[in-house]
Amino acid sequence: MIKVICTDSYEALCKQVSRVFAAQITLKPNSTLGLATGSTPIGVYSELAQMVAEGRLSLSQVQTLNLDEYVGLGAEDDQSYRYFMNHQLFDRVDIDKSRTHVPNGLAQDPQAEAARYEQLVASMGGVDIQLLGIGNNGHIGFNEPCDHFPMQTHTVALTESTIQANARFFADASQVPTQAITMGIGTIFAAKKIILMANGPKKAQILLDTVAGPVTPQVPASILQLHPDATVYCDAEAGALLRQHGLVD
Ligand code: F6R
Repeated sequence: MIKVICTDSYEALCKQVSRVFAAQITLKPNSTLGLATGSTPIGVYSELAQMVAEGRLSLSQVQTLNLDEYVGLGAEDDQSYRYFMNHQLFDRVDIDKSRTHVPNGLAQDPQAEAARYEQLVASMGGVDIQLLGIGNNGHIGFNEPCDHFPMQTHTVALTESTIQANARFFADASQVPTQAITMGIGTIFAAKKIILMANGPKKAQILLDTVAGPVTPQVPASILQLHPDATVYCDAEAGALLRQHGLVD
């Protein structure tokens, strides 16, 4: 069973998750952090930036590995995940960018880049703590529902539902890249500790499927049921169906 921790609000959720990360970094200053983009973790990054600004935390010795990046977008593109990470976190804390890693969306050969990234994760000794958001369809990273769990970092064609969900960040859906490089489910699962965050009513059904449904590649996040140290942190809206089913403490 995945442990579930439910808070009243998004603000409380971000405070709790940031404290888990702060504890990890305080206890092991050279931790390798697995990081996610998307709207869900933005408040966590703000909390961490504030702790650093107040001198309560330092990220100077950590290394970071992001889950994914769009193929075709570089660091200067404001829709790239590298740009997002620089603006939401890296530029606001005391980390040297050379210690931060995001797949290179501009690599000439995206498949070779995926293989390089998988090697990089291994050469860094794996991820100590992995932060995840969840797609409305259960995707983690860009591992979309399919008939098997992809093991390693790979290139992937985005599903129509993910393109539509991400279109809100672009001028229109036709501008959303159609391919991404993502850590595989195996890469993610190898993290020592996993924190899956979700907020808002749109995530309620998929959280129930993830926590209490069958473990199936049709709901990629459901694999976390088998992880020895995975916890779902959600706000009241995302946790509403979990609560109805008595799955929240
Ligand atoms: C982001 C990522 C995605 C998002 C997911 C949820 O790096 O890998 O799996 O976590 O799409 O996105 P939001 O948080 O925008 O609902």
